[in-house]
Amino acid sequence: MDKFLQEVAPEKAYRLLNLGATCFVSAAFNGDGDVMPAAWNCALDLAPCKCTVVVARDHYTRPLMEKSGYFAISLPTVSIAKVVMQLGSVSKNDVKDKLEQSDAKFFKLDGFDMPLVSGCAAHLIFKIIPEPEMEQKYDLFLGECVKAVADSRVFRNGHYYYDASNQDLRTLHYVAGGHFYALGEEVLVPGYDD
Ligand SMILES: Cc1cc2nc3c(=O)[nH]c(=O)nc-3n(C[C@H](O)[C@H](O)[C@H](O)COP(=O)(O)O)c2cc1C
Repeated sequence: MDKFLQEVAPEKAYRLLNLGATCFVSAAFNGDGDVMPAAWNCALDLAPCKCTVVVARDHYTRPLMEKSGYFAISLPTVSIAKVVMQLGSVSKNDVKDKLEQSDAKFFKLDGFDMPLVSGCAAHLIFKIIPEPEMEQKYDLFLGECVKAVADSRVFRNGHYYYDASNQDLRTLHYVAGGHFYALGEEVLVPGYDD
């Protein structure tokens, strides 16, 4: 596990997703794993934290999710933007060593098989809540968070903290092609501490 990763309290995990960042979806089944970026992910509930993510039916990652009943969401940072494009422009349907061919470094969290990409701001593991109609009709998956960890250099006490020292760890926000924005400036509204 990356040395800066620390456990996030379950009731604060939804905040990791509130930035609306582009994520990686990771899944594994029977020793076979894959990772793909997904811009279409969204927090859905507070406690337990839930999320939705769109994973198209032709992606290799999808049956790994369906068969294992689990997926992970990780939040890649500016430092690995190139890896996002590598894992998002090749399918493991076509290239069996897609992960090995990329520049990504992988690790696993204890008790979970899916390959997680090093250099992310946070990783959340979700157990799929089956919604067959939604999955078939919209390629939309719903999950309940069973574990969350975040890089303590950017997320502590339920909040993200960015300054001049950790600009490379800003989350990525996808437009199209190879075009992203990095997370922008903090805006604080006094009187609403939480
Ligand atoms: C930045 C980015 C965001 C993407 N967002 C999504 C998404 O939200 N849902 C989706 O199904 N595919 C999305 N894709 C496409 C898949 O990540 C891509 O087709 C990937 O190669 C599938 O890999 P796989 O077949 O090995 O699972 C995105 C691609 C990129 C580059």
